[in-house]
Amino acid sequence: MDARALVDGELSAVERARVAVTDEGFARGDGAFETVGVWDGRPFRLGDHLDRLAVSLTAVDLPAPDIDMLAAEAARLLHGVDGDAALRLYVTASGTRVLTVTEQPRRDPPARLVVRSAPWIRPLGTYGPAGAKTMSYLPNMAATRAARAAGGDDALLVSLEGWVLEGPTFAVLWAADGRLFSPPPDLGIIDSISRRTVIALADEAGVGVVVEPRPLDHLLAADEVMVCSSIRDLLAVRRVDDTPFDGSTPLRDQLSVALRDARRGRR
Ligand SMILES: Cc1ncc(COP(=O)(O)O)c(C=O)c1O
Repeated sequence: MDARALVDGELSAVERARVAVTDEGFARGDGAFETVGVWDGRPFRLGDHLDRLAVSLTAVDLPAPDIDMLAAEAARLLHGVDGDAALRLYVTASGTRVLTVTEQPRRDPPARLVVRSAPWIRPLGTYGPAGAKTMSYLPNMAATRAARAAGGDDALLVSLEGWVLEGPTFAVLWAADGRLFSPPPDLGIIDSISRRTVIALADEAGVGVVVEPRPLDHLLAADEVMVCSSIRDLLAVRRVDDTPFDGSTPLRDQLSVALRDARRGRR
């Protein structure tokens, strides 16, 4: 697939796309973005992503985006794409719209997550950016680097209060006592669209779902730990710090098939 970009309506190859260095998105990370999974040429839950983009921008007092224009630009950029891809949409404080379509990066199941404290993730309502998917991902990326330096593949973020939150670029769920657990968005995590989908699929399948704050010990005692995002499958985690999760993963196996089917429009 030829990776392409659309910057304020101007189409180009992705490596030729240009944004001014004075753009607030570049200069200060001031803006919001979305990453949308494209499966068999179709963007999954694009409407939910555009709604979340509007919520992120208004949470930090930036103007709401023109959703219809962005939807039309996404359709233009995806024209002719019939396989899997990653669609990204950025709206910066300078008003610049950047859309890109690229190959999905390969994502292996995380062999080991390393627990990191995430003091920048605060409950909804404590400050504007809480829960917003802004272009300031530096603390998340630094957590991934620190986790890698400590011998892991990525980080598992925990709040100052000790609640399990999410990963730097993914949502976290776990299975215990035959039920599926996941943290609530009001902890200030990203309200993950793939996680919402997995929870709805679990619900449909009659699996009990608990969306409540839980401490790290609860996750470490779980039967299965899994992660997901818009451009990842539902992946089993093998180890968190020094706790192994080496056994079978029946709930992950069941829900990952359901998620794949949903994304490919087979259900
Ligand atoms: C911090 C964080 N949490 C969770 C997710 C998963 O969200 P979604 O399923 O909407 O892709 C992402 C996705 O990029 C993320 O960056």
